[in-house]
Amino acid sequence: MALAEVTNLHKTFGNNVVLDGIDLQIDQGEIVVILGPSGSGKSTLLRCLNYLETPEQGTVTIAGHSVDARAANKKNIIALRRQTSFVFQNYALFKNKSALGNITEALTTVKGLPATQAEAIAMDILKSVGLEDRRDAWPSELSGGQQQRIGIGRAMALDAELMLFDEPTSALDPEKVHEVLDLMKQLALQKRTMIVVTHEIPFAREVADRIIFMDGGKIIEQGTPTQLLDNPQDERTQAFLRQVL
Ligand SMILES: Nc1ncnc2c1ncn2[C@@H]1O[C@H](COP(=O)(O)OP(=O)(O)OP(=O)(O)O)[C@@H](O)[C@H]1O
Ligand SMILES: [Mg+2]
Repeated sequence: MALAEVTNLHKTFGNNVVLDGIDLQIDQGEIVVILGPSGSGKSTLLRCLNYLETPEQGTVTIAGHSVDARAANKKNIIALRRQTSFVFQNYALFKNKSALGNITEALTTVKGLPATQAEAIAMDILKSVGLEDRRDAWPSELSGGQQQRIGIGRAMALDAELMLFDEPTSALDPEKVHEVLDLMKQLALQKRTMIVVTHEIPFAREVADRIIFMDGGKIIEQGTPTQLLDNPQDERTQAFLRQVL
């Protein structure tokens, strides 16, 4: 059985149909990259998976926790959301918390761990993202790449079934991109289940098990990196790849 399943997901903003019937299954340990032009609905799809946005129609199931848009309530939304962690383009760190504090917070507030235990786990995570020497730094004292590694560390602390990444490197200076992608590769090697929206084609080729191409709120085609990048079938995929490659 799939770890995550999305059935007939629909989302509109006013008259703008942004997700137009998305069906998707993600296996445990699978790394899925989503590509698509600006405005195609990639961020909205990720945000509907954990109900940061509320779809009008469709069902999302992650690790056995299911929400049908037409019967969604706070309780089942919270249960679904706990199966996910989210890494944002702009890091979304707490500015008034230290590097360590940003990770500890996920453990105390979301997971309800006592402070000392949370801090011990957070220190281990700081080590694995290579920032133990910056534990007391404020986000404003860290580079973009370091801030995003804290953002990923916070997501790791949640230890959720499904990690969602929305263009995690697109706000970074080019020379900082690799440090974040390298960390994501480590997570991939640990067989974390991940959905990554990114324009980093070499990363997608190397790390993804499957690449999905979206346009106009629909999944246009999907396949292995070789299938999708080297032998795209749909002319919209071909046109998009001509622009980014
Ligand atoms: N909160 C919102 N209110 C109104 N319209 C929105 C909102 N969020 C997204 N949209 C619209 O939905 C469409 C899809 O947006 P979305 O952010 O999902 O695209 P995207 O594929 O992530 O694009 P990008 O590559 O630029 O990040 C766009 O037309 C956008 O203007
Ligand atoms: Mg987006």
